[in-house]
Amino acid sequence: MDGRFFQLSCTKIMAMAGGVLLLLSQTVYSAAILEGQRMHPVEGKNGMVVTSHFLATQSAQEVLEKGGNAIDAAVTAAFSLAVTQPRSGNIGGGGFMLISSEKKNEVVAIDYREKAPGKATVDMFLDKDGNADKIVSRFSHLAAGVPGTVAGLGMALEQYGTISLEEAMAPAIKLAEEGFAVTPRFSNGLKKREKRLKKWDSSKRIFYKPDGSYYEPGDLFVQKDLAATLKRISQNGIKEFYEGKTAELLVAEMAKHGGLITMEDMKNYSPELRTPVHGNYRGYDIYSMSPPSSGGTHVVQILNILEGYPISEYGHNSAQTIHLMAEAMKRAYADRSLYLGDEDFVKIPLKGLTSKTYAASLREKIDINKATPSSTISPGKPLPYESNETTHFSIVDKFGNAVSNTYTINFSYGSGIIVEGAGFLLNNEMDDFSAKPGVPNAYGLLGGEANKVEPNKRMLSSMSPTIVKKGGKNFLVTGSPGGSRIITTTLQVIMNVIDHGLNIQSAVAASRIHHQWMPDQLRVEEGLSPDTVKKLQEMGHEVKTKSAMGAIQSIMIRDGVMYGGADPRRSTGLAAGL
Ligand code: DON
Repeated sequence: MDGRFFQLSCTKIMAMAGGVLLLLSQTVYSAAILEGQRMHPVEGKNGMVVTSHFLATQSAQEVLEKGGNAIDAAVTAAFSLAVTQPRSGNIGGGGFMLISSEKKNEVVAIDYREKAPGKATVDMFLDKDGNADKIVSRFSHLAAGVPGTVAGLGMALEQYGTISLEEAMAPAIKLAEEGFAVTPRFSNGLKKREKRLKKWDSSKRIFYKPDGSYYEPGDLFVQKDLAATLKRISQNGIKEFYEGKTAELLVAEMAKHGGLITMEDMKNYSPELRTPVHGNYRGYDIYSMSPPSSGGTHVVQILNILEGYPISEYGHNSAQTIHLMAEAMKRAYADRSLYLGDEDFVKIPLKGLTSKTYAASLREKIDINKATPSSTISPGKPLPYESNETTHFSIVDKFGNAVSNTYTINFSYGSGIIVEGAGFLLNNEMDDFSAKPGVPNAYGLLGGEANKVEPNKRMLSSMSPTIVKKGGKNFLVTGSPGGSRIITTTLQVIMNVIDHGLNIQSAVAASRIHHQWMPDQLRVEEGLSPDTVKKLQEMGHEVKTKSAMGAIQSIMIRDGVMYGGADPRRSTGLAAGL
């Protein structure tokens, strides 16, 4: 909880230092208040916004206050994050948005994942000896997929929103043009990634002062080029990004540095409306992202396996519970490596992977007391085929709409390359393809044929924006960054609420664990008791305590009250209710 206190005190200091008056509206309650032994979530009756940056939360909250719906607020939040949190908020990347409407009784998914350029080839990331070249797939112009964010947000607003693009983008333009006070997190992030960003003149000019020195907490950070880009989009529409001056700047950047994206790639990009993966866990309806993300498929698959155990009886974060979770996770990640990819290109046995029968067959192979070495687990046989940064936000409104959105440029600051003259960072999402079978990507994830590079294909993702419904009503809105850990982070918040009865703030804050089959390692956060760790080791798990995982911004709705829980793992996060 220190992070929350830190954020609020920082906010105050910055407000004084930078002369920025930050008026927290009376309806914003601090999530830092502890009552008894439980962490208190933020409450709201007429809407709730939870994002990883307080300025984006406030922009979106104002949209709801003026009568906009959750989708309007989501578009505003996304553009605002692109300005205030350039390490992950973006217009140069892509993502997924789940929208649930109680009135229409439907949950839809907008897939605005980046696509490989038309000239991409299967061996584009192999060096002359046939080895995967990480520098090329992560830190060059070839690392960039055709960005989908602007088109995705445009589609959301046009089909499900109520305000104009100009209205939705106005707060972001103001933040870029007039600037905002730098937070400690913002300043530290740029110091940490100095080498990567200063390699490119275009990035150096944006993220460092003219003499090369750092922006320090309290300094005003203005982004004129980005403001101009956002203004052009706001005035000329989504087409501006894909066919106008912005596209030209991006394509010129590519041509100058050996990148592949052409005007044709930009013009041809279109987001897709997809049907989310649907599962049922102990009577709750789980909706989460379908391919080209692996997220929803495996969240549902792992829940299906775990449904066969009395998890609440075993207790939250007990050795028994963690052991079973890890065993289920291993089997799911093994399947991920073989079956998952872009469904427009490969057939995925989705029904099989998410079926209760298949889960039962995997459960049978789990020893309740002993870890199965990952080396002896291989991808299973579901039923046959049927015809280091990201950011998540969750928003609900008083009209029964919920939005769960995760978008990314992959690493913190993507490839580190700013498009000259356009002021935004390029993603390095091409690294999410499998550069070579058996060679893990940046998150240690293995992949093969199904996720090989192909022209115009979407690279496999783990992003898992999720909406849980109970009796037709929106109940839980959640999702997280964290690369391969996204799936397991999301899973744990669902289980913390459904199995363990934690309120949303406690569910979000609780220590997390993660297993991804390979490497055969049970990764845990600080906070597990030493005797739990000892028991897990006795069961055969190699337990490794590492840095915090994910930043899961979540909302739970109960008896008409909306409860927001911002993840204390992000010092700038804020939940705000109306
Ligand atoms: O789509 C994916 O799964 C990754 N590109 C997400 C990257 C990510 O979450 C990094 N953040 N910590």
